[in-house]
Amino acid sequence: MKPIPLDGRVYLVGAGPGDPELLTLRAVRLLERADVVVYDHLVSSAVLDFVSPTAERIYAGKRRNEHTMRQEQINALLVTLAQQGKQVVRLKGGDPFIFGRGGEELQTLAAHGVAFEVVPGVTAASGVSSYAGIPLTHRDYAQSCLFVTGHLKDGTADLDWPNMVRPRQTVVIYMGLGGLPEICRQMMLHGASPRLPIAVVQDGSIATQKVVTGTLADMPERVARAGLKSPCLTLIGDVVKLHDSLAWFKPVAPAVAPAPVAPKKLRRPAVALSV
Ligand SMILES: C[S@@+](CC[C@H](N)C(=O)[O-])C[C@H]1O[C@@H](n2cnc3c(N)ncnc32)[C@H](O)[C@@H]1O
Repeated sequence: MKPIPLDGRVYLVGAGPGDPELLTLRAVRLLERADVVVYDHLVSSAVLDFVSPTAERIYAGKRRNEHTMRQEQINALLVTLAQQGKQVVRLKGGDPFIFGRGGEELQTLAAHGVAFEVVPGVTAASGVSSYAGIPLTHRDYAQSCLFVTGHLKDGTADLDWPNMVRPRQTVVIYMGLGGLPEICRQMMLHGASPRLPIAVVQDGSIATQKVVTGTLADMPERVARAGLKSPCLTLIGDVVKLHDSLAWFKPVAPAVAPAPVAPKKLRRPAVALSV
């Protein structure tokens, strides 16, 4: 095992898509020893259970339209904590280098001479597709795979649509729930078949996972009917057909906690009751 140095250092760690079993050994060891953990909203509570009870936990948020801390504040915080000599884990959902702004944070650390390491995580494309039983490539259906962000600027489409509609590929869209109707519309406008299979997976790899499948033509309506909520990953391509036969993960909703039992009243001795 790599030793953990005594001077301040930031570990940029990927937390995977939610199931704590998907953490790397290195991630678990660092979480157990960190002085401070700065984490994002996509990090599941089961993953945070690995953080030492003596460590400070700082929530850095960053849900859409609800930025608890601005990116510059997070960058500055990491520098300050490391300069105080702390072992800092910067914990991000999935993999920090895939739509995770990990590179931006490291650039600030490098500019301030702060030592850092990167611990990759299982990115949503990989973890969520696995738990949904949808292989990203398959010799019969897709020889390539494209990861894009569906976070459309001002609701307008600035994706490379001709590239998105290439045959025999799987398109994986991060942050694509809000833009789904526009994405489906643009793909059909650019020549994709309205019958092209598509899946939207909410909360992949955890107990609340939901998978909705359909076609480019009917998916926006299906997703609206299912009431899916963020985080959702969208997978488009013929590999989605495999979901019906390969879906192995049966999410089990957490048992409903029993209603709190009212504290028992002190009973009087039987003899007193019978008075
Ligand atoms: C800001 S990006 C972060 C991606 C992350 N760095 C990764 O490698 O997975 C957030 C998006 O990742 C996707 N995502 C992350 N975890 C997910 C999960 N458990 N289920 C479904 N989608 C997920 C969603 O598309 C979400 O909007």
